[in-house]
Amino acid sequence: MAMKKINTLNVKLKDRSYPIFIGKNLIENINLYIPEVNNFSKIIIITDKTVYKNLNKKIKTVESNFSKKILKFIVPQGEKTKSFFYLESLVEKILKKKIDRNSLILCIGGGVIGDLVGLVSSLLLRGIKFVQIPTTLLAQVDSSVGGKTSINSKFGKNLIGSFNQPISVIISTDTLQTLDMRQLKSGYAEILKYSLIKNKVFFLWLQKNGEKILSLNNNVLSHSIMTSCSIKSKIVSLDEKEYGIRELLNFGHTFGHALELVSGYSKKINHGEAIFIGMFLALKFSCFLGFCDSKLVKLYSDHLENLGILYKLKDYNISITTKKFIELLKYDKKVKANKIKFILLKDIGKSFSYTIEDEKILSKFFKENLE
Ligand SMILES: NC(=O)c1ccc[n+]([C@@H]2O[C@H](COP(=O)([O-])OP(=O)(O)OC[C@H]3O[C@@H](n4cnc5c(N)ncnc54)[C@H](O)[C@@H]3O)[C@@H](O)[C@H]2O)c1
Repeated sequence: MAMKKINTLNVKLKDRSYPIFIGKNLIENINLYIPEVNNFSKIIIITDKTVYKNLNKKIKTVESNFSKKILKFIVPQGEKTKSFFYLESLVEKILKKKIDRNSLILCIGGGVIGDLVGLVSSLLLRGIKFVQIPTTLLAQVDSSVGGKTSINSKFGKNLIGSFNQPISVIISTDTLQTLDMRQLKSGYAEILKYSLIKNKVFFLWLQKNGEKILSLNNNVLSHSIMTSCSIKSKIVSLDEKEYGIRELLNFGHTFGHALELVSGYSKKINHGEAIFIGMFLALKFSCFLGFCDSKLVKLYSDHLENLGILYKLKDYNISITTKKFIELLKYDKKVKANKIKFILLKDIGKSFSYTIEDEKILSKFFKENLE
């Protein structure tokens, strides 16, 4: 029998360190990837309706790995589920089942489920352990790693949450087979982000291999997930709570989150799509301020056009005034003393944070660039 190829990374956070496993069909023997798996009293699976429908067989396989009682909770899919309503409803339904602190939550789904369930796990009985089993490309390369949990507020994206690290992240790449192209492209936004902020060689590799990621070529896909998780886990290990270097991971997100908010977290635009536009604006802003050459904007646009990925506001029918955009940007978590902070680039792989002292610069930039 051929040996399964499994890659392992570690997020190093002292007593909260944990492994990330990456490979195909890991779900089949999922208990091998859960530390001290026999010590848990109950297993709680939380997922969303679409994942439950698409990955039904795989979820049954997960269940068959355990001999103890399994509780299952299924919430609606979509960004609107990251809300107080579903947080409360999940917490109350789980408590009704009389769980104890030795219960383990398995969180199976995309970034929405990961963010919500991570928060649920930090609140229940003041914290019970959880495992991330990400099933979207975006969750596999980004949201399942690093311990940021959140729900949204009417004032902005991810404004309510906690830092809560999982005890293991199990990335079973076969789960992506049922994901549609729009969602795959959305995940690609975060992969591209890592290359732009930290690794030019990776960017050059993506220029050649981006298409193969989207067609789920196994070796290429695994390499892109490994490289992305490795960049992220190193940054998180250095700065878990985002007092410094971790903020570089927000490249494109300051603009992007404002766009998600103005679209009411609707289907019009998803997270990755907002980040494609956000990174385009951040690159243009970097050039506008004289930090980088406009060749970078062209490299970015050409790459996305080759992949058939849309990255302009007008592509998504979003119109927003300069005034509204600036107002929304001020709800970003990085704002200090009313001053907005952006992650910008000097070159591919060279990112830095920059605080805008004078808002007029931003107004001028938007007047010329809100297309
Ligand atoms: N915590 C973090 O560090 C972090 C980082 C990046 C993004 N995020 C958050 O992640 C969220 C976006 O995540 P997402 O793009 O995964 O969204 P998502 O969880 O909404 O998943 C997208 C859609 O795909 C469906 N789906 C999931 N897995 C599937 C599968 N295998 N087959 C078929 N359908 C499947 C879901 O039901 C959903 O409808 C945003 O809320 C964003 O803020 C968090």
